[in-house]
Amino acid sequence: RLIVPGAFVAALLLAIPASAAAGGLGESPRKHSGPGAPGIGDPYYPASGNGGYDVSHYDLRLKYQPKSDLLEGTATILAETTQDLSRFNLDFGLDVSEVLVNGKKAGVSFSGDQEVEVTPAAPLPKGSSITVVVRYAGKPSELAINGFTAWHRTPDGGVAAQEPDSAVWWFPSNDHPLDKATYDVSVQVPNGTQAISNGVLQSTRPVGSDWTRYSWRSDKPQASYLATLAVGKFDITTDKTTGGLPILNAYSKDLGANEGAAKASIERTGEVAEWLEGVFGPYPFNALGGYVPNVTSGYALETQTRPFYSPRQFASGSNVSVVVHELAHQWYGDSVSVDGWKDIWVNEGFARYSQWLWSEKEGEGTAQELADHVYASHPADDEFWTVKPGDPGPENQFHLAVYDRGALALQALRNEVGDKTFFEILKGWPTERAYGNAKVSDFVKYAESVSGKPLAALFDTWLYEAAKPSEPAAAGVGV
Ligand code: ARG
Ligand code: ZN
Repeated sequence: RLIVPGAFVAALLLAIPASAAAGGLGESPRKHSGPGAPGIGDPYYPASGNGGYDVSHYDLRLKYQPKSDLLEGTATILAETTQDLSRFNLDFGLDVSEVLVNGKKAGVSFSGDQEVEVTPAAPLPKGSSITVVVRYAGKPSELAINGFTAWHRTPDGGVAAQEPDSAVWWFPSNDHPLDKATYDVSVQVPNGTQAISNGVLQSTRPVGSDWTRYSWRSDKPQASYLATLAVGKFDITTDKTTGGLPILNAYSKDLGANEGAAKASIERTGEVAEWLEGVFGPYPFNALGGYVPNVTSGYALETQTRPFYSPRQFASGSNVSVVVHELAHQWYGDSVSVDGWKDIWVNEGFARYSQWLWSEKEGEGTAQELADHVYASHPADDEFWTVKPGDPGPENQFHLAVYDRGALALQALRNEVGDKTFFEILKGWPTERAYGNAKVSDFVKYAESVSGKPLAALFDTWLYEAAKPSEPAAAGVGV
């Protein structure tokens, strides 16, 4: 038997993601048997995620009919129990007809709009591997949760892409970034229509004479909100980066006047990703791309390996900056994910700052100039300064301040520690924490350890005070 020193064991334990080690935030240390908690314990979104198990893989085998918006199929979920479990929840909003746990029919009940309660035939002991099969059907566009739907119905299909939740509209999951898993997504659609998802397209096969099945694999840990599905009529382009990564982009055939600008931006994905590798270190996944469905919304989302873009983002011409933003998230957000949703700055502050770095490189304004502009353009009584990027509250999770004031915090850090140390931090963090989860406070500690400087006061000023800082994030003497 191998004897290992205590410190080494401790280091190994630290390497295990919090969700695996502690069964998610939701599991109180006292409770080791009984039903799994209906939430993972995120104060911003109490219903998100669940306690009692940790998913390793989702296999989604689906069929979608654009004319009716009917989505139907089977999800097979591989998980491990993290407590003795008499019952557990899945987050999901479509109609479930049957659930099997380890091949045996389980009891199913529903609570609220998005909680499916599964009672296996016999209690599951802690630490067991379980296979959960969920058969389901429904029209995602008809599912509204608090009056909101994350599903985009388009003239020729539908799209799931939203943050912090989109999974409940199309597959059952443990819907929180603390429980990442790998994905196989296989979707049967009418001939002439494509199904786009994350990762690598493994196969395209005819089903009978009228249907085609698209099978995708995303083989690195992926948060549930970063899983995407887009069905519609697309132009597909493929390429490889100079480093050999496969690129697949998809453009709705219905982009009208925005088509040229969308392609002129997203076709630069490989170039942008390789530039970002110079800033953030090796790209964490094995596929690249982007897709633009014919949705009417105006946001983009860093869906893993293949970001979602809206046509409106290309209405004034090319917008490589949004491509930089979404690709930066592949490191900051997708590989290193939030621990809880209050930590959204570890995603958005860095994605915004990477746009400033791109501008600096392109000679369109330095990060310092952009920071000065943001600081000057919001007067002290602007509501902008009342939002604390380090803990903005669920209602302000995507407030402009999380992005712009969030990036000001990084400019302040850069000026405090100098360029050499700053860029060491930017590259070291996603390398050190790859495929994990992190809190804002973890980043502050990391920056302190790399720079050897106390930085709590600086981050308090830029991330945690509900007031305009009295001094701009000014460059140091002589800069
Ligand atoms: N992470 C996305 C981005 O910054 C934000 C998506 C916000 N969602 C929304 N409905 N506005 O690109
Ligand atoms: Zn973002």
